[in-house]
Parts: sequence; C-alpha cells; structure tokens
Amino acid sequence: MTSPVVSEESQFVRDHLNAKIEAISNADAEDKSLLIAEIKQLLKQEDAVMVAHYYTEPELQALAEETGGCVADSLEMARFGRDHPATTLVVVGVKFMGETAKILSPEKRVIMPTLEATCSLDLGCPVDEFSQYCDQHPDRTVVVYANTSAAVKARADWVVTSSIALQVVEHLKEQGEQIIWAPDKHLGNYVAKETGVDMLLWDSACIVHDEFKAKALIDLKKVYPDAAILVHPESPQNIVDLADEVGSTSQLIAAAKNLPNPQLIVATDKAIFYKMQQAAPDKLLIEAPTAGNGASCKSCAHCPWMAMNELGNLRDVLKQGHQEIFIDETVRLEAIKSLNRMLSFTPNK
Ligand code: 13P
Ligand code: SF4
Repeated sequence: MTSPVVSEESQFVRDHLNAKIEAISNADAEDKSLLIAEIKQLLKQEDAVMVAHYYTEPELQALAEETGGCVADSLEMARFGRDHPATTLVVVGVKFMGETAKILSPEKRVIMPTLEATCSLDLGCPVDEFSQYCDQHPDRTVVVYANTSAAVKARADWVVTSSIALQVVEHLKEQGEQIIWAPDKHLGNYVAKETGVDMLLWDSACIVHDEFKAKALIDLKKVYPDAAILVHPESPQNIVDLADEVGSTSQLIAAAKNLPNPQLIVATDKAIFYKMQQAAPDKLLIEAPTAGNGASCKSCAHCPWMAMNELGNLRDVLKQGHQEIFIDETVRLEAIKSLNRMLSFTPNK
C-alpha cells in the first residue's frame, strides 16, 4: 500500500509539473501573439502579402486569411500572386510555388520563410536528365506538373496543376497529340487512364501521398461505412480506385462541402483539415491510413517541406529578406510560355 506521505509527495510533484506546463504554454501563447503582431506589422511595412498553401500549418493559414492574403491550391496561388498589387509576395509553401510566383511577376520581390522547403517531385526530375529524355521523343508534347523547377518548366510545352491536368490533356487529345508526362507517375497514370491518351510517364512520386495504404483504407471504410473517400491524385492507383472523389486540394475541399456523407476519409496532407473543416463544419474528417504493411517513418500524411514554414522564419524573412527567389531571365522567359498556356486555358465544358 502507498504511504499517505508518498502519495502526498507525488501529488505535490504532479501539481508542480502541471503548474510549470501551464506557465510554459501561457508563455508560448504570449510569445506567439507577439510574433503574430510583429508579422502583421512587417507585412504592412514591407507592402507584402502572404500566399499560402493548404498544406502549411493552420496558424500560418489563419494569418494569411486575416491579413488579406490567400490560402489556396497551387493554381490559385499562382493566379493570386500574379494579380495582387503588393510589391512583395511571401510564398508560404514549397520552392516551386515561389518560383512560379517569380516567373509570373518578375517585377515583384518574392520571398519565402525558407528556400530549403522543396518537393520530392521537383527533386526527382533534374533538368538535364529530363531534357535528354524529351530529346529522345521529339514528336511528343511535353506536359509537366507545376511541382517542378523553373528550368523543367522552361523545357515543357505545358505546365499543369492537378486541378486542370485532365482538361488540358483532354484538349491535347482532341489535337491528336501524344504526351511526355513528368514528374508524378501516379498523377500521370490517373490522367492517362481517365483520358485514354498515349502518355510516357517519368518515374517520380510524392513521398507523402505514396504512403497511403489500400488494405488499411478498406478496413477503415468498414468502420465508417457511410464515409466518402476523398483522394488527391498524387496517391497510388490502388488508393484512387477506392475513391468517391479524386481531385486537387481545392476540389477536395469543395467535395467535402457538397457530398452528403457525414464522415469523410481524406487521403491527402492532413494540414488541409483546417480549411476543409471550415467548409464542412458538421462533418467528421478522418485521416486516410498511412500505417500498416510497409509503413515507415515518413508515414505521417504531412509534407516535411511544407512543415518547414513557421511563424519564426516568416518573421525573419520579412525582416531580413534573405530567402529571396531569383530566376535566370532566359529560363524565366521560356518557363512563362508554358505557364501562361495553362493560366489562359479555358476548358470546353
Ligand atoms: P494542389 O495543386 O492540389 O494544391 O497540389 C499541390 C501539391 O503539392 C500536392 O501535393
Ligand atoms: Fe511535393 Fe508531396 Fe510535399 Fe506536395 S505534398 S509539396 S507533392 S512532397
């Protein structure tokens, strides 16, 4: 039996620790609100606007919304940055998003909390190798995903994002084109299957979406038989096959709002839950499983590069301007052609 003295002592230690934890989180909250106030003031001072992706931390998304910036998918981020009058764009996302903003708005200063935030698709498609591959198939139209470097975009005929890929490839099909597609093999496979177009696929994948597990998803659906399954097309085919809705981040948010199902199992980065829950406040959002057979330490449904964006480095870049995007002008002038093809494309309804 525990002696009353020991139990009194351990209660004392527990109270002491709880008081400490509370003090630390109060101090954290205080520090955070000071940091947020400083960022707001710097945004004004620098004539800057935040252009954030749905996969960044909720506190960054909230700050972008509060300060007149945008939280969007990669296509809308590109449009918003191009059209906004601010002279500085703070792109809160990954490097290809900052590069896209700079390609479209060379007169603006484009900064990011950290230029180290990249993407496995961008890394998986080095321009020299890709260029050689294209040279081997000169009769094919080159379509690249937005998740690529400026140099790869410069080598392409078209840039697409996941929200417009199907329509662009349908359009190219009507012109009788055959395609080279890079870099995401899963998205490429999905588009080829849906459109029936002859597409040569580059072999690269998103390390986040590649981790979703079909067997565990089937088991989860048994627990929630009324749930709809929402899938980003960077996921493997066996996950896409289980989907009720396949789409880009903004298309999945729209589906969450419009579908009648009370629960939604979501196979994309979990940071999307911030905006998805706003769009569908009464629905239960459930993460699609990444654990199970073949799970690894990468299996957390959150992009490690998106997670590099923080309040601290956002404040630092607004103060110091040290994480700025620059693009060689020759590359930019080529890349803007393929990007503008996408931005001025109006799909046949
Ligand atoms: P969206 O274009 O759907 O926002 O996707 C970008 C991305 O990086 C998804 O992993
Ligand atoms: Fe790239 Fe995947 Fe991260 Fe999107 S989620 S930025 S595709 S690594």
